[in-house]
Amino acid sequence: MDKVLKNDLEILEQLLETAASRGVSWLNKIDRTPTSVAPGQYGGTGSGGQRSSTKEGNGRVLDPEGAGGLEALNEFNRRFEPIMVASTGPRYWGFVTGGATPAAIVGDWLAAVYDQNTQTPKGPGDVSAVIELETINLLLQLFDLPGDFKGGFVSGAMMSNFTCLAVARQWAGRQLGRDVAREGVQQSLKVLSATPHSSAIKSLSLLGLGSANIVTVDTLSGNREAIDPAALEKAIQGLQGEPFILISSGGTVNTVDYDDLHAISLLKEKYRFWWHIDAAFGAFAALSPEHKHLLRGWENADSITIDAHKWLNVPYENAFFLVKEKHKTLQLETFRNSNAPYLGEQAENFNYLNYLPENSRRLKALPVWFTLLAYGRDGYRSIIENNILLARELGAYIEKSDDFQLLAPVRLNTVCFTLKAEPDRVPVFLERLNGSGKVFMTPTVYAGKAGIRAALVNWRTTADDVQVAIREMERAISV
Ligand SMILES: Cc1ncc(COP(=O)(O)O)c(C=O)c1O
Repeated sequence: MDKVLKNDLEILEQLLETAASRGVSWLNKIDRTPTSVAPGQYGGTGSGGQRSSTKEGNGRVLDPEGAGGLEALNEFNRRFEPIMVASTGPRYWGFVTGGATPAAIVGDWLAAVYDQNTQTPKGPGDVSAVIELETINLLLQLFDLPGDFKGGFVSGAMMSNFTCLAVARQWAGRQLGRDVAREGVQQSLKVLSATPHSSAIKSLSLLGLGSANIVTVDTLSGNREAIDPAALEKAIQGLQGEPFILISSGGTVNTVDYDDLHAISLLKEKYRFWWHIDAAFGAFAALSPEHKHLLRGWENADSITIDAHKWLNVPYENAFFLVKEKHKTLQLETFRNSNAPYLGEQAENFNYLNYLPENSRRLKALPVWFTLLAYGRDGYRSIIENNILLARELGAYIEKSDDFQLLAPVRLNTVCFTLKAEPDRVPVFLERLNGSGKVFMTPTVYAGKAGIRAALVNWRTTADDVQVAIREMERAISV
């Protein structure tokens, strides 16, 4: 064994405890840690080792002899920790960025400690796939979804959309007598949607279905992003029985508008289509009695995307897909890892690698399992309801303000707004606002206007944080 490695083995406890204690110190000051850092600061914190002056910049030289884990940790703490932004903190409202609950961090750390490759619940092997199946079952209970969904963990909602739409593609091909997984895409397959998330469109590119081939269905009138069910039915009738894939929004990213899932579930009784719902963060409305109705009918979907690293507050990279068990054969056809006799017979011996994109995977379920056991349905309900309440508070302030203007009503946890007088100055405003390091929001374009999104999905956020954000917004607009 290499002598540096041997030394690290001898000081394993000290090494891991030091990393844990420095991590805890960082987390303990997260609400005072800046939410952004100017790129100019990236290079300015001094390096431990030598640096090369490559064309790309100041890359660090790889020392022939390693310095050991403690030295690497020291260099990380010296150079990078001071410029780590508080994206896991209470006022990071850009994109849809969840934090990490204490128990989720424990689960995530332990996933590295136990370092299992999650494959099959049937031995000989490890228990990790049993944990994954149990965790999916816990999630079905959390969302009050039926047990005829089966699921697995992938790296994010993008990959969950990809996984679900890959099975949808196989389904559509089969309806036309083709096996797309084996033969490739031989003919165009119809995909309908009103306001799909960009990652669903990206999935269509990756799947060879073509991002430009999407048939865009009208939305409801009156500042809505939700599909118009009447327009949808008309579009379906225009297809004259041709099978198609419908991508529904269970919470759009700009204004958290929901397609009428109940109306769509009724259409599903009349017409032949694969119904996919992207509910990356909108799924969590199921935990709020006031908003649960938004998901009425979603149990009849063929597949659903839900993110864990957003509103479940589990560390990146974590999401899951749900696909109806009756589509198991299509899923196997799609992801079958062929020509690998050493991995066993595929149809009989369930192995995750035959049902999702990756072959080897870490135990992504573990942080989810930990956080669900730790906080239960009530804990999550309180996170969701708190974020919704605080988004409303911010929305109410904007409604009364002379400077800002809502671009859409606050429907759930996201506030989409602009500058009343000069929407064109959004980039300048955001630069000032985010430059404060106190709060972080991201730009968008909604209904042709430059806008700003504040998405509240962090378990730590309080009413005080909303006040801090408002103060910073007023400061940034008045400069
Ligand atoms: C509705 C929706 N779908 C999919 C995604 C993609 O998620 P991820 O970044 O986890 O891949 C997002 C991200 O914001 C989203 O809001």
